[in-house]
Order: sequence, then structure tokens, then C-alpha cells
Amino acid sequence: MERASIFTLICFLLLVFSHLELSKEADVLAVDGSVSDGETLVSSLETFELGFFSPGKSRNMYLGIWYKNSPEAVVWVANRNNPIADTKGVLTVSGSGNLVILDRTKSVVWSSNVSGTVEHPVAQLLDTGNLVLKDNKSMPGSYLWQSFDSPSDTLLEGMKIGWNLKTGEERYLTSWRSADDPSPGNFTYRLDITGLPELVIDRGSMKTYRTGPWNGIGFGAVPAVPNLVFKPTVISNENEIYYTFEAVSNATNMRLWLNQSGYLQRLISEQGSNQWGVLYSVPFDQCGSYGFCGANSVCSSRRPDTCECIKGFIPKSQRSTNCVRESSLDCQRGEGFLRLVGVKVPDLSKFHLNENLNREQCKGECLKNCSCTAYANLNVSDGRTSCLMWFGDLIDISEVSEVYRGEDIFIRLPASSLGLTRDSSTRNRLTVIISVSIISGAIILGLVVFIIWRKSRKRDESLHLTRFKGGKDEREVPLFHLSGIEIATDNFSFRNLIGEGGFGPVYKGNLPTGQEIAVKRLSKDSGQGVEQFANEVVLIAKLQHRNLVALLGCCIQGEERMLIYEYMPNKSLDCLIFDHKRREELSWKNRFDIVLGIARGLLYLHQDSKLQIIHRDLKASNILLDSNYIPKISDFGLARIIGGNDEETKTNRVVGTYGYMAPEYAVDGTFSVKSDVFSFGVLLLEIVSGKKNRGYNHPDHRNNLLGHAWLLWNEDRALELMDTILEESCVRSEVLRFIHVGLLCVQESPEDRPPMSSVLVKLTNEEATLPQPKQPGFFIQREPYGSFSAIRTMSTLTENAVTISILEGR
Ligand SMILES: *[C@@H]1O[C@H](CO)[C@@H](O)[C@H](O)[C@H]1NC(C)=O
Ligand SMILES: *[C@@H]1O[C@H](CO)[C@@H](O)[C@H](O)[C@H]1NC(C)=O
Ligand SMILES: *[C@@H]1O[C@H](CO)[C@@H](O)[C@H](O)[C@H]1NC(C)=O
Ligand SMILES: *[C@@H]1O[C@H](CO)[C@@H](O)[C@H](O)[C@H]1NC(C)=O
Ligand SMILES: *[C@@H]1O[C@H](CO)[C@@H](O)[C@H](O)[C@H]1NC(C)=O
Ligand SMILES: *[C@@H]1O[C@H](CO)[C@@H](O)[C@H](O)[C@H]1NC(C)=O
Ligand SMILES: *[C@@H]1O[C@H](CO)[C@@H](O)[C@H](O)[C@H]1NC(C)=O
Repeated sequence: MERASIFTLICFLLLVFSHLELSKEADVLAVDGSVSDGETLVSSLETFELGFFSPGKSRNMYLGIWYKNSPEAVVWVANRNNPIADTKGVLTVSGSGNLVILDRTKSVVWSSNVSGTVEHPVAQLLDTGNLVLKDNKSMPGSYLWQSFDSPSDTLLEGMKIGWNLKTGEERYLTSWRSADDPSPGNFTYRLDITGLPELVIDRGSMKTYRTGPWNGIGFGAVPAVPNLVFKPTVISNENEIYYTFEAVSNATNMRLWLNQSGYLQRLISEQGSNQWGVLYSVPFDQCGSYGFCGANSVCSSRRPDTCECIKGFIPKSQRSTNCVRESSLDCQRGEGFLRLVGVKVPDLSKFHLNENLNREQCKGECLKNCSCTAYANLNVSDGRTSCLMWFGDLIDISEVSEVYRGEDIFIRLPASSLGLTRDSSTRNRLTVIISVSIISGAIILGLVVFIIWRKSRKRDESLHLTRFKGGKDEREVPLFHLSGIEIATDNFSFRNLIGEGGFGPVYKGNLPTGQEIAVKRLSKDSGQGVEQFANEVVLIAKLQHRNLVALLGCCIQGEERMLIYEYMPNKSLDCLIFDHKRREELSWKNRFDIVLGIARGLLYLHQDSKLQIIHRDLKASNILLDSNYIPKISDFGLARIIGGNDEETKTNRVVGTYGYMAPEYAVDGTFSVKSDVFSFGVLLLEIVSGKKNRGYNHPDHRNNLLGHAWLLWNEDRALELMDTILEESCVRSEVLRFIHVGLLCVQESPEDRPPMSSVLVKLTNEEATLPQPKQPGFFIQREPYGSFSAIRTMSTLTENAVTISILEGR
């Protein structure tokens, strides 16, 4: 840590010499002053520091600006191309009013190159990280030169990348060559304005990543939840067009860093801390790599085949990811369009932009020109829409994260391809209709932090946690410090391990206040976990109900991602009802209350909370019980917010737990509140019977628990379903009513199943008249893997090909 010792030395020298060498203002350099090796300028609020440093193992000296608290975070380098080989470099303001770096021979190594002379030149390191040269007599804010105009590899708040339209000058980030060498490397991050403005990472002249076009709110997509962490903007006027961002909270430092391997990281740290967290980095996965899939295919990292041809296209050759039209466009009548929903639109290589056309007009324009292959009606800034038409191959289409709304694009197809080409025997022709697209773990982390890095915060050092408060109606989601969690869990000691989720291990911990917590620690290598972690924080931060587990906070520090919940001494429901000893703990009264509690929690999710949420993974192991056996629904990793008027939604990735999944969901990915009702019905019957639906064995038949209940019901022997240890505590009429409601909930057709509001009425109201249940869905015991492939085959036959992946044993 050569730099650290230099830093210590700098601090020491500063202490000794600051009053001698520099004026009182430690951020200002005037004509008679200089900064030589070992001296620094420090901005007024002590955020940034300027001085000479040598990066990594290098012995060369460079003049740079870094965060005072984290000197390794160098944000700007002056003499990138002209290092000084010894420690005799000096920064000074020349008589003519230029900022210059001189070497030992007093020759100019670097200059700010301002022409003309200035009378009272002063240089100042501002607290934004901007080094400015100004006339001391001129208006504040008018600079002769500023370091923000010549970015290195870092974009700070208030800096711009983009174009001066008058001079044609471009500002962009250039990576360092290596950690030891700040000279310009191979990667650049720029605002591409050949089409609609979009940010791109280039390696030399090859594009490696593109964001997708700016739409007035974001690039390529609109976040479903407002971005509470930073505000990106593209400003366009007759003089310039540029990208810049603003951090929403001034209690954080934020920087965009193009690293030496060509990744762009958005880093965030608390003010005064030297710990930086990666909010996200791009490209975040293969699909983010420009053109990872060939022409005319759609990239989705979640599919077994990452690249799939668009419907109507087939692979050019066996091993190629380039796709060609199955039958060519002939400009005949009957040609139409296939809509791809929520994607990053193709690269704008051959395109035409037509402003102010609505979708119908846009479609008409595309149909008019025989070489138009696709169109999209996109929002551009200021809420205007633009008609974009593509000619030729469509490159770099990918699915967009589920918390972001991508754009819709319409692909032109001949009549023959538009028809129901159900020849799904060739898997290459799988229809790609992306209804609900897939989250990419990295990007969504941004959202997590939206929730956490809230505007006002209060420090509570004793608890090692920082609180972030949201708006009036948002809950407070405290951010715990890692050190606090380490103390609470005794360094994640094995003794405190209380469970292992699909997500990672769960530890018990004790806060200094005496409160007991459960800490869910995301395994570092679980990509899926990242996504679910984010989903969980985003959702649960908005929810509050006696029957939902309460999130106490989370911890994001370095690589660590953790969720902190209230501790539930009675663990999960499955540890009780299916355990041959512990099941005795639960009397009928307890079970009655547990069922009602779950129903209330679910009702809240479905309709009482401000969002309408489908849990999608309701099961016994996701019901936690507190010391009074009050049930709390947990694990929102798979939950989805659905729009108020979307009755049902489709997903191309079915996740859930076998035994609890509703048939329509498992078979074709359609989910609605009624799929949760199905899972609730299964759970209800399990609680009454003390038997698991999945893996249920009966000597006389191959039905599962649902099928067994159905048989007994039809033979008027429903009470035989009840767990025998309830014989004494039960109220028979209640048990019967519960089984009846349970059977109503698991009916095959979602329309037949009652909504949760009606379930709750039916459960509690003895007077309620209940309809006769119809046959349950999935009532025959199946082998999970057998059914897996059966489901898969069925689904490929449906128009919307869906990918099924059943998470086992979650
Ligand atoms: C700049 O001007 C201010 C006020 O006019 C004065 O106090 C200060 O000393 C000047 N600084 C330099 C470096 O000339
Ligand atoms: C200043 O001008 C010199 C000579 O034209 C050039 O080599 C150098 O890169 C310029 N410096 C800056 C900071 O623009
Ligand atoms: C930059 O690219 C060139 C050509 O591809 C390669 O030879 C060189 O090693 C690269 N430099 C760095 C710093 O990666
Ligand atoms: C931070 O922002 C708040 C509210 O916007 C403001 O009152 C406060 O002065 C700001 N603090 C700093 C250090 O800029
Ligand atoms: C650049 O960022 C990527 C993604 O965050 C990371 O994997 C890589 O290690 C980083 N490279 C360097 C040199 O920091
Ligand atoms: C179709 O569009 C292309 C590309 O913009 C253009 O060159 C060509 O003239 C157009 N053809 C017709 C018939 O409009
Ligand atoms: C375009 O913007 C309008 C108004 O801002 C919004 O209602 C609409 O949903 C946006 N469309 C897309 C595709 O983002």
C-alpha cells in the first residue's frame, strides 16, 4: 500500500506545512502558490483532494484528484500521457494564467492550455471534485478551464458526457490502461447520437455494450419503481447534447467508473466512508454484451437457449446464432407484425426516425416501404413519441429486467409466418413472445438501493445501523452495517445457523438492544438470489401487515447482501404440522387461527395493500410462526406486483414449488391471484390433515392429498381427512367447513376458485352457504420429473412458448 503511506505522509506534511505553504483556503492555488509532491489541495467540505500520486505498482507520478476518504478512488488524472519519473513535479498557476505541471527541469509536462492572459488567475478544487481555473475577479461559476471538461475514467455528479454541437467536440470516459497506468486504455464510454441518444461502451471501434435509446426517463427501459437513488438526464439543446446524473441524496457519494476491463460500474458510498458498493455494473450478463446473439434473435440469459430466433426466423446454419427469415418478405398483402413486448430494441444501424407519428401511422409507414423490417413507437424526451423503423437485420435485442419496462417492437412478418405455425417439432421455431420478461440480477440491485438510500437519514452508532426514511407513506428500511450484523451473529458462527434457504444460509442474531433477528445471507454465487433479494426488499419494504413477516432492514456492503427479519421462535409451519412430535403443539384452535391469519395476510397482498401482489410461492415452509403462533407469510423472492387492471399475467419462467402450484401456472405460466388461492387451498388442507400434498401416499389409490380429500368428500367422509391428533380439540363443523373451503380453493379452473375476500368470509361465517366444489386440479400423484417433461411438451405446443423451471425443494 504505497499510496497509503504516501497519504499518511501527505497528511503529516499538511499538518506541519499547511499554514506555511498554502494560503488559509486549502482549496485554492494562486499565482505564487504551488502543489508539489507531498502537498495537496483539499476541497472546502473535505470531499476531494488533489495532489501527486503514483498508481498501483507504478513509480511514475501523476497529478490527480481523489476522494479524501478513499485515496484509491482516483477520479481524475491531469498528465495521463505524460507521467513524471521522479518526485520533483510541481503544479502551479503560471503568470499568463494557465494551470501547469512542471518537471524538475521546469519544462511544462501538462498545461490547461488557456489562451490569452488572465489578471488574477486562481485555481480552486471545488467540493464537486471539479478543479477550476478562474479569474479571481470574475463572476462565480465562470471558469476559464475546468477538469470536468476533460473527463478521465470517472463521471461524477454534475459532469457531462456528450457533444458540443457547435464545435463538434466530444467528451467521454476513457478507461485506464491498467491499474498501474492511467494512460488511455482501450475502452470508452460515450453518448452515441447517431440515432436516438444512447450510451455505449466501445473497445477501440467495436461496440461492446449499449444501453438502448433514451426515452426521457431512462435508457432503453423505464423503471417500474421510481429511481430514488439517482436521476439520469439527457439534455439536448442547440448548443449541446449530453448525459449527466444527479444523486438524489447528498449524504452519499456516487461515481460512474469505466474500469480497465471495460465494465462500467456505478459506485456509491456514504459520505465520509471509504467503502464503496457497486450499485450495478454493465454489461451485466451475456445478453448485455453487444451482439452476443446473432442477427434477428432475442437474448435472454434465463432461457436454456440464451439466443432464440424471433418467430418467423430460423437459424442460418446449424451452429449459427444468426437467424434468417423462414420465408422472405414479398411486400404482398397480408403481411403483418409480431409484437415483442418489453425488450431492448435493436441497434440503430440501418434505421429511419420519423417524429410525431402515432403507432398506426408508424405501422403504415413501415408497410409502405418493402425494406422496412420492424418498427417501434418510442418515447423520446419531453414525452414526445417517435416512429423508429429498421431496415435490414435486427441486432442486439434482449429481454429487459422485470422491474424495468422495456419497449415494444413490431417485427414485420409475411402472412405465412404470422399464421399459427404450430410446428413446434423444431425447437428453433419456438415463438418468442415475451410477456413478462426477466430480471437481470445486477441491474435490479440498483432498485434495492433505491429503497434504501433514502433522502434523510439518521445515524445510530450504538446499533451500527443507519436509517433511511422514505416519503410519508413509505416504511423506513434501515440499512444495517456489516460490522453490526457480524457482532449480532457472532461472525456468522455455525451455532447461529438456523436454516438454509434457496437463497443462502439464515442466521439468528441478537442486536445490542436485545432484539432477536434472523439474517438471510445471500450466497455470493447465487445469481438468482440477487434477483430475489432485490425483489424481496422492493416489495416487502412497501408492505406492512400483522401476517406478513416484517423486514427490519438489509445490509449491502461490498459483496454482501443480507435481509434482516424479526426472529420467529416457532420457525416455519412445516416444522410443526408435518413433524410427528411437534404437531401436537398445534390444537384445532391454533390451526384455525393460523389458517385465518394466512388468509388475512394473503388478502392484504391481493387487494388491501396499495400494490396488488401475487406471492407465487405460498407453502408451509414460507409461513413463519412467532412465539404466539401468529402466522407470518415470508419469502417474497418470487412475488410479483401486477397492474390494477391486469387480471392475469404470464411468465416465461415458471418458478414455484411442486405440490402447491396451480395447474394453469405450471402448465402455461399464467398466474393471477387465483393461483395463490390454489396454493392457499393446498396449505389449508395440509394444515387440517397434517399431511403433505406432495409425496402423499395412500395404499388404495395414487391420488395426492387433494385427490384423497376429493374422494373422501364425495363419499361424505371428509372428516377422515383430519389429523387424528385433533380428534379432541376440534370443532367438527369448523373442520368440515375448512375442508369444504379448501376444496373450493383448489378447483381446477381459476374462475371457479373464490377470491381471498370471499374465502375469509366463508371460513369465518357459519351461516355462509358454500357451493359444491368441482374436481381439484392436479389431484393425481405424479412423478415430479415425469410431469416436468410433460408440462414442457405441453407448453411448447401453446402459442406462447414458455420455459418451465421448477425450483425443487425451495
Ligand atoms: C480573491 O479575491 C478575494 C476577494 O476579492 C480575496 O480575498 C482573495 O485573497 C483573492 N485571492 C487570490 C488568490 O487572489
Ligand atoms: C495543450 O496543448 C498541447 C499542445 O498543443 C497538447 O499536446 C496538450 O495535450 C494540451 N493539453 C491539454 C490539457 O489539452
Ligand atoms: C488494446 O487492444 C489492442 C488490440 O486489440 C491490444 O493489443 C492491447 O493489448 C489492448 N490494450 C489493453 C490495455 O488492453
Ligand atoms: C442536503 O440536502 C438537504 C435537503 O435537500 C439540505 O437541506 C442540506 O443542506 C443538504 N446538505 C448538504 C451538505 O448539501
Ligand atoms: C471491472 O468490473 C467488472 C464488473 O463489475 C469486474 O468483474 C472486474 O473485475 C472489474 N475489473 C477491474 C480491473 O476492476
Ligand atoms: C425505403 O427506405 C429506404 C431507407 O430509408 C429508402 O432508401 C428507400 O428509398 C425507401 N423506399 C421507398 C419506396 O420509400
Ligand atoms: C410514453 O410516455 C407516456 C407519458 O409519459 C406514458 O404514458 C407511456 O406509457 C410511455 N410509453 C412507453 C412505451 O414507455
